[in-house]
Amino acid sequence: TKMSLEQAKQVAAYRAVDEFVTNNCVFGVGSGSTVIYAVQRLAEKVETDNLKVTCIPTSFQAKQLILKHNLTLGELDTHPVLDVTIDGADEVDANMTLIKGGGGCLLQEKIVASCSKKLIVIADYTKDSKKLGDRYKKGIPIEVIPMAYVPIKNKIVGLFGGEIKLRSAIAKAGPVVTDNGNFILDWLFINQDLDWQNVDTVIKMIPGVVETGLFVNMCQKAYFGQPEGIVNERS
Ligand code: A5P
Repeated sequence: TKMSLEQAKQVAAYRAVDEFVTNNCVFGVGSGSTVIYAVQRLAEKVETDNLKVTCIPTSFQAKQLILKHNLTLGELDTHPVLDVTIDGADEVDANMTLIKGGGGCLLQEKIVASCSKKLIVIADYTKDSKKLGDRYKKGIPIEVIPMAYVPIKNKIVGLFGGEIKLRSAIAKAGPVVTDNGNFILDWLFINQDLDWQNVDTVIKMIPGVVETGLFVNMCQKAYFGQPEGIVNERS
């Protein structure tokens, strides 16, 4: 049900914050609906335990969340090394490879994750899969420079097959525009046994590709909230 899904997100988020937030840490704030619970818990802890934490956002949404909870906002210019980032994911496979960017924030999420000593994923049980594509059916998000979206789309399909859709906005006519002014392609891949590290590298070499939603060898630990309120861990 809707309630148990929200509860699953919450227990995972609370567990991760309790485990990884320490005094004086530089903390990366991910994006999406699960992260909302993490920031709630962080604000509680900062208040009750009188912690000093500097928060680095991974999106406009994350920045607004940080400000709403009166947390200390930082940026990579002043804090280029983060102790830990806690973020959601659309899917986590058995090797801890992630699909991210369902919410369109993959570029800043990957930048911040790449500057973090640890990336910890928080998710509900529906994100836990063996192979990418088992659970998340919307494909791999790829952020691109608008003028290049058609050639990029043709090149990726030519290289790896599948089908690609330009992501459309819901409350506006036309495409989704990211926090960075780019478009998002959703690549509905067919082959689930690709070498994702290689796929990520090859796609990133196509001119006009800004970033992919494939996070390979970046995540150290994932917490999956279960409908009964327990949390499963994978590392
Ligand atoms: C944002 O672009 C994504 O990478 C999110 O982290 C991902 O979509 C997970 O979001 P939820 O926590 O809302 O499922």
